[in-house]
Order: sequence, then C-alpha cells, then structure tokens
Amino acid sequence: MKILIINGPNLNMLGIREPDHYGRATYADLVARIRAHAKEKGVRVAFVQSNHEGDLVDAIQHAYRRYDGIVINPGAYTHTSVAILDAVKAVSVPTVEVHISDVEAREEFRHVSYIRAACLATIAGHGTDGYLEAIDLLLAKGAEA
Ligand code: DQA
Repeated sequence: MKILIINGPNLNMLGIREPDHYGRATYADLVARIRAHAKEKGVRVAFVQSNHEGDLVDAIQHAYRRYDGIVINPGAYTHTSVAILDAVKAVSVPTVEVHISDVEAREEFRHVSYIRAACLATIAGHGTDGYLEAIDLLLAKGAEA
C-alpha cells in the first residue's frame, strides 16, 4: 500500500508556530515519525508540504492511480478551499483529514471543513499521533477491500 501524506500552509513551521496548539515537534520530526510507523506497518509513504493552494490541488491530482490513500492536513485551507475538496472528489483516492489541534474547540471559523465531505474520516486534536492513526485507518480499509 502506498500513501501520500500532504501538509498544507504553515505546517513547515511546526515546532516554532504556536506550540500550545501544535506541540514542539518539528515538521522533520513529524516526517521521521510517520516514516518509522509506516515501515513498521509495511506501508510506503511519500510527503508533500506546500504553502500554496494550487500545489496542494496538484499533489492530490498526482495521487490519482499512483497512491492507495491520502492523509491530508490542509491547514487553514481546510476552512476555505472548495478547490481542495473538488480535487479529492475528482481522484476518489481514499482520504483521511487530519488536524493536530482540536479544531472544534477553537475559533468558530475553524469548525468549518470543506474537505471533510470527501473524506473517509477526520482525526483532530490527537496531536501528531493523528497522522499515524490515519495511516492505520487507511490500512484497515484497504485490508477490507
Ligand atoms: C490545523 C488547524 C487549522 O485551523 C490551522 O489553520 C492549521 C493547522 C491543525 O493541524 O490543527 O494550520 O489544520
């Protein structure tokens, strides 16, 4: 199984940005953690991080027929981007939405997620563990297929 891990804007600033919300682990720490977990589970992973909405759309389109699943944290584009929602719908690759912080417990504008409608599940507020849980969920779904 091949899974594409997509991170949106400002997630390259993990470890620096608002540690009360996002913790102290850096983006490099996150990638290393996911790689170790994926290795243990026998899953192949690739990573994309971009601060640009169109790049995220391109990454999702790239997954078409190349990946068995997508784990995506669209960052702030979660709350604004119809284009990212449409991209996930277009490729119909099983996708899990992840948020490090508990978006439901934060400002009201963070309660809206456009992409959620196209996702198998949303995992929020579990810190960086959420990415590992998302991989496990995709694996479980893949095993069912
Ligand atoms: C986030 C939550 C978003 O509201 C925010 O804009 C982010 C990160 C999270 O991982 O908790 O950039 O997606």
